[in-house]
Amino acid sequence: SQPSPPKAAAVVDIHTHMYPPSYVSMLRSRTEIPLVRTFPASPEDPRLILLSSEVPLLLEAESNPARSNQIIPGRPLTRHYSSLAQKIHFMDTHKIAISVLSLANPWLDFLSPAEAPLVAKETNTSFSDMCASHPGRLYFFGTLPLTAPTSEIQSCIDNLSRTPYCRGVILGTSGLGSGLDDPNLLPIFSALAEKNLTIFLHPHYGLPNQVYGPRQAEYGHVLPLALGFPMETTIAVTRMFLAGVFDSIPTLQIILAHSGGTLPFLAGRIESCIAHDGHLFSRQQQKTGGEKRRTLWEVLNTQIYLDAVVYSDVGVQAAVAASSGGERGGGGGGLERLMFGTDHPFFPPLGTDEQGEWESVSLNAQAVGRALGEGTEAAEKVMGGNAIRVLRLVGE
Ligand code: URA
Ligand code: ZN
Repeated sequence: SQPSPPKAAAVVDIHTHMYPPSYVSMLRSRTEIPLVRTFPASPEDPRLILLSSEVPLLLEAESNPARSNQIIPGRPLTRHYSSLAQKIHFMDTHKIAISVLSLANPWLDFLSPAEAPLVAKETNTSFSDMCASHPGRLYFFGTLPLTAPTSEIQSCIDNLSRTPYCRGVILGTSGLGSGLDDPNLLPIFSALAEKNLTIFLHPHYGLPNQVYGPRQAEYGHVLPLALGFPMETTIAVTRMFLAGVFDSIPTLQIILAHSGGTLPFLAGRIESCIAHDGHLFSRQQQKTGGEKRRTLWEVLNTQIYLDAVVYSDVGVQAAVAASSGGERGGGGGGLERLMFGTDHPFFPPLGTDEQGEWESVSLNAQAVGRALGEGTEAAEKVMGGNAIRVLRLVGE
């Protein structure tokens, strides 16, 4: 049958991860994070250990393998991470028509320059094949070999731009090693913009562990995931803004994970700090003779999209308001810039069957319904219409 545009009310999940089986094998062979390991205290339960905040528990488990009451580091590596059948089952359970898949953190950030291009190719081919096996239900954000020479990154972008189901790239905050305000990234960003590939900016590194204090092990993953991740995203995108990346490449389009971290709440403060910074003020005077600069609100209203992975109607309201450019950005359009996501397979339900409904999904869907009205045109845009338009998705 001919591909047809998805139904207006189709639900699209733009924030949904996988590790292809080859990537999981690589993690199993590693001795430093990120890694997969099985501990004697729980032999049936392979663990995925990703975050630097998990290292203290990992070291403790290694030095004391027989202790029975130890906290097992990491999180369970379930089939949900690498089984496509499981992803489709998850989509069907939650009435998700289309998913835009991405490799989960920390992508290829830890690979040597020599390894990265091959693993990128293998990974992007896996995603492309998965999409091709369910045409109209799956698209993907590709992965770049950021530790490799620039020519390799550029050729990967070229390949992705010719890959039918690829709509962009997932990017962490480290860039080429110096963050996303690195001038050496501008040619990469330009190539992405030119090829109409949207960036999906996603955190991994969080904040220095020290800020979580001496009792952090008692608090599980809450501090790094709930607070470290969003601050990391906020800082990364603010650095891009301050470096003038959005002005240099006005066609660059970027989706921020977790509703922009804390950007909707802090954009006003960032703007005020810029307006009251003596150093920036005199530099701006010299550069433009006092001409009006583009504000963060305007960038939010033209080049930034936010996902709706924020778990509360309060966050959804803030994201819509910030995306409409606040009062100073020209206003309007906020409802066009927010896109539903699930963050599957992270945050599985703990008290109920993993094959059933996930509370992490229903919290995000309810948040949209509560903020914008269940079943309204506005809610339908956020639940899928915006992703279909922005990422040019075609249904089954
Ligand atoms: N934890 C992660 O490491 N990544 C996610 O995307 C979500 C939770
Ligand atoms: Zn995620």
